[in-house]
Amino acid sequence: MIKLWMAPAGLHVEMGQDGDAAELARIHKTGFFRGWSAQEFAEFLAERNTPIYVACDAKRRIAGFALIRIAADEAELLTIAVDPKWRGKKIGRALLHATFQDLMLSPAKRMFLEVEEQNAAAIRLYRNEGFREIARRDGYYARVDGSAATALVMARDLG
Ligand SMILES: CC(C)(COP(=O)(O)OP(=O)(O)OC[C@H]1O[C@@H](n2cnc3c(N)ncnc32)[C@H](O)[C@@H]1OP(=O)(O)O)[C@@H](O)C(=O)NCCC(=O)NCCS
Repeated sequence: MIKLWMAPAGLHVEMGQDGDAAELARIHKTGFFRGWSAQEFAEFLAERNTPIYVACDAKRRIAGFALIRIAADEAELLTIAVDPKWRGKKIGRALLHATFQDLMLSPAKRMFLEVEEQNAAAIRLYRNEGFREIARRDGYYARVDGSAATALVMARDLG
């Protein structure tokens, strides 16, 4: 079954493929202090319980992606990142919508995520898409300057 979802700006969302690992690592590094390696993405791509959704054009040039982990009746958004030149075009929202729709075919009933308390863009996106804060983890993230940042845990029902 080919899975395909509409996205803005002439893009669509489809499932990540083995050959995407290096590009996913490149985009991830643009958004996170500790980028994950192509090898780590290759491992996620090889596992059934860690699907990756990619937003790309007809030539399969990737603008962003969302990675989730499914465990029993829970799903976790492990990461989401959009290439800086594609941000603010609702690609992140399209990626989340694709995961919600796809998870309707899975046993997952609830989706969780963790986000740095100061990541206003991401928190606004998540709130808009129905996520609500359920916990705080003080000192959870390491910052570039060595200080620690608080993580918010957010959750949303699926289906
Ligand atoms: C978070 C991220 C994935 C959002 O992707 P995006 O495609 O730019 O987001 P969208 O265009 O779909 O925006 C959807 C909503 O997010 C919010 N948002 C996006 N960018 C924002 C910004 N710079 N400032 C404030 N809110 C913002 C808005 O609420 C927006 O909806 P609105 O325009 O109707 O108000 C992207 O900024 C990114 O890759 N950031 C770096 C990595 C990261 O922080 N990931 C999340 C970690 S948990």
